[in-house]
Amino acid sequence: MKITPAKRTEKITYAIRDVVVESTKLEKQGKKILHLNIGDPNVFDFQTPEHMIRAVNKAMLENKSNYANSMGVTEARESIAKEQERLGIKGVTTDDVLVTTGVSEGIELVLNALVNPGENILTPIPTYPIYLAVVHKINAVPNQYMTNEENGWQPDLDDIKKKINDKTRGIVLINPNNPTGSMYDRNTLEEIIDLANEHSLVIFTDEIYNKILFDGERHTPLASLTDDMPVVTFNGLSKNYICPGWRVGWSVFTGIKDEISGFKEAVFKMARARLSAPGPFQYAIKPALEGPQDHIPEMVSKLQKRRDLLYKRLNEIEGFSCVKPKGAFYAFPKFDLGVKDDREFVLDLLRKKQILTVFGTGFGYPKPDHLRIVFLPPLETLEESFNKLEEYVKENYNK
Ligand SMILES: Cc1ncc(COP(=O)(O)O)c(C=O)c1O
Repeated sequence: MKITPAKRTEKITYAIRDVVVESTKLEKQGKKILHLNIGDPNVFDFQTPEHMIRAVNKAMLENKSNYANSMGVTEARESIAKEQERLGIKGVTTDDVLVTTGVSEGIELVLNALVNPGENILTPIPTYPIYLAVVHKINAVPNQYMTNEENGWQPDLDDIKKKINDKTRGIVLINPNNPTGSMYDRNTLEEIIDLANEHSLVIFTDEIYNKILFDGERHTPLASLTDDMPVVTFNGLSKNYICPGWRVGWSVFTGIKDEISGFKEAVFKMARARLSAPGPFQYAIKPALEGPQDHIPEMVSKLQKRRDLLYKRLNEIEGFSCVKPKGAFYAFPKFDLGVKDDREFVLDLLRKKQILTVFGTGFGYPKPDHLRIVFLPPLETLEESFNKLEEYVKENYNK
């Protein structure tokens, strides 16, 4: 008996992990792969701060391995609420915080609780792919707005205006951005808030990289710019606190309490229906947010050197150009090489030079002329990768 899967699964893809199938095959043949594909700091030379590990250990030894409260462990929710005040987001209480199994689960819960089949949510091009996956899972209609490479990958406000229709329920911003490494300026954020206000949209702002910023840049949390618009801010421990495998994230609900309470309660109802996020790991939230932060400048300083190398080397390769990332650990360079199929380009580069990157169309980019490169690997690995990339381009394109 052949089992037919549900239609909603047809359009779900996750390019970042899909390319790994091919690299695993090559690794089994004994090839050494240079991984520039995955945004996981622990795979490289970054380590979870020890005091966080101790806090989780302690919770486990104290037998706190019970199901946690569905909305999150109280001390963690309190600490996340306090963190919002430090970020300049006013009036957040414990009741406005939901702890989730990574930001990933928060995205699923909030979009499920807001969007009916046939309605749409604006997501950026390029985008972190989970947003499109969730749009398909909930039978919503994809509605994507451009971000402009020529303008440092800032959201294209005119395109956003064009794309809003009477079925649009919200807009997603990823700031700092995966996959472009851009950070949005205050004016752009204010204009987006005005547009959302005019069209009654909920703003979803994914700020999971808000502490990984270069050149002394400062991040403006969108929710700090408005007291009355409904905003859901996503953040978590995965990136800033170097523990993506722990699966700890949170959603913070702000706006006029009366106006958002129905939506927030719907999200909490869905959260109760999935029991809880992993309990013991939530005991790392307070020590993370309120304890020593030394690992952040250390991480940023290492990453900034890697970003500088990437920026220099990529722009030296004929046909390649790259906007300088301001935060996170990704770059989204363009290659003007007449390539018709960027997935094939990435697989060919992998087979011939053992460098693993991710193709731009996997992030919803419409043209096959971008790659996402992760600059978490050490300088030597990056040097070797850019040497090989340069060779590959010379051998195959600039003959
Ligand atoms: C923009 C963005 N949001 C969310 C996530 C997922 O985060 P989490 O590990 O908290 O599920 C990632 C992971 O790469 C990301 O880049």
